[in-house]
Amino acid sequence: MELAQRAAARAVRRVLAGSTLPVALAAAGDASQGDRALVQELAYGTLRFLGQLRALLALLAERPPADASLEALLWVALYQLTHTAAPPHAVVDGAVNATVRLKKSSARGLTNAILRNFLRRRDDLLALAARDAAGRFSYQPWWIERVRAQYGARSADILDAGNARPPLTLRVNRRAIARDDYVAALSARGIVATTTGAAGVTLAAPCTVSALPGYAEGWFSVQDAGAQLAAPLLGVVDGMRVLDACAAPGGKTTHLAEIASLDLLALDVDGRRLERVAQNLARLKLSARLAAADAADPVAWWDGVAFDRILLDVPCTASGVVRRHPDGKWLRRDSDVDAFVAQQRRLLDALWPCLARGGRLLYTTCSIFAAENARQVDAFAARQPDASRAVLQFPAGIDSDDGQLLPAPAGAEHNHDGFFYALLQKK
Ligand SMILES: C[S@@+](CC[C@H](N)C(=O)[O-])C[C@H]1O[C@@H](n2cnc3c(N)ncnc32)[C@H](O)[C@@H]1O
Repeated sequence: MELAQRAAARAVRRVLAGSTLPVALAAAGDASQGDRALVQELAYGTLRFLGQLRALLALLAERPPADASLEALLWVALYQLTHTAAPPHAVVDGAVNATVRLKKSSARGLTNAILRNFLRRRDDLLALAARDAAGRFSYQPWWIERVRAQYGARSADILDAGNARPPLTLRVNRRAIARDDYVAALSARGIVATTTGAAGVTLAAPCTVSALPGYAEGWFSVQDAGAQLAAPLLGVVDGMRVLDACAAPGGKTTHLAEIASLDLLALDVDGRRLERVAQNLARLKLSARLAAADAADPVAWWDGVAFDRILLDVPCTASGVVRRHPDGKWLRRDSDVDAFVAQQRRLLDALWPCLARGGRLLYTTCSIFAAENARQVDAFAARQPDASRAVLQFPAGIDSDDGQLLPAPAGAEHNHDGFFYALLQKK
């Protein structure tokens, strides 16, 4: 236990110093193979509820621990005591033992006292920690304010939904196997799954993806049910010339290629991320032309032949996918929103001339902030006389407010992340 607690605490500290969680976990070191899943669970969970854990520790300690390693270790242990079924004595003993490496003799006694005090006063402390918005919702104050200003009475549910554990959802590659046949293949292995949307399969419990049937054969991709809406919304048919302007790692590129036989160009400004598009296409036995290029500079990559369809999955705050990437809640700054808005605007303006008359551009983000979404596309449509927003044909049961999908509450039939979609039609 203590090795996992220490490694998770190190990963959390790295995130707070600016690293993404996957990078922080890779660097967190010395966890054994068996502990790796536990380290991951502890680091994700601690970041999901960091606001609450900080508030609890502030109530429990007279002043913040001088040692940042000890502080992070206490957050991890408080996460376990608050949100997991781990036996409390094992959590406390593990954390106390984990302090040995901190070379501070007082850390052992302090850890023991703080955690035991929490166990004694648990209910009172949880209520006190929830008095403050950051302690109640576990987001930065600016984020909470932005959601409140935009969503009003719905904001608490939206913030809570972003703290839920996301399901593992797959998209079945219809060129390899029918969706229901894949569900039967899972069932034959004792894996319980339900279907979602046209190609989606949601597993009842998380598992190692590469161990699922048909992984090497390219029978499926991992993709949230909300992201699986993009390719069908673009309305592609065989023979179309299609641009996926911000393609890496290729979740939507591969979906487009599964749906229709296209003349498909996938761009990404990041050459290393583009390699993942190539790998995903190869595993799924699909093809597309790839180019590492700045989509906002068509002179550098465009041959001048207009596209029938453009998918513009812009870089964004990713505020809609924090249940999968809780590090985003602590890495983003309020000022990032304006920077993303400017970048998105540049991409929209530069790509519009590449779209054929009568063609369609699907603008999408995994954000819930209006500045990146409805406000962005409405401003674009207002300054482009030949652009208008077309009606989106979402599948039955998908709840969208002007293209905005919110992270689904736990237990929802369509359990998806938060996304925004707008279909722009060229007159
Ligand atoms: C939201 S992600 C795309 C996810 C991808 N569409 C998928 O479904 O797997 C945004 C991508 O845009 C890329 N990007 C950012 N600025 C870009 C630019 N100016 N030109 C092309 N790609 C860009 C990033 O490298 C990143 O891979």
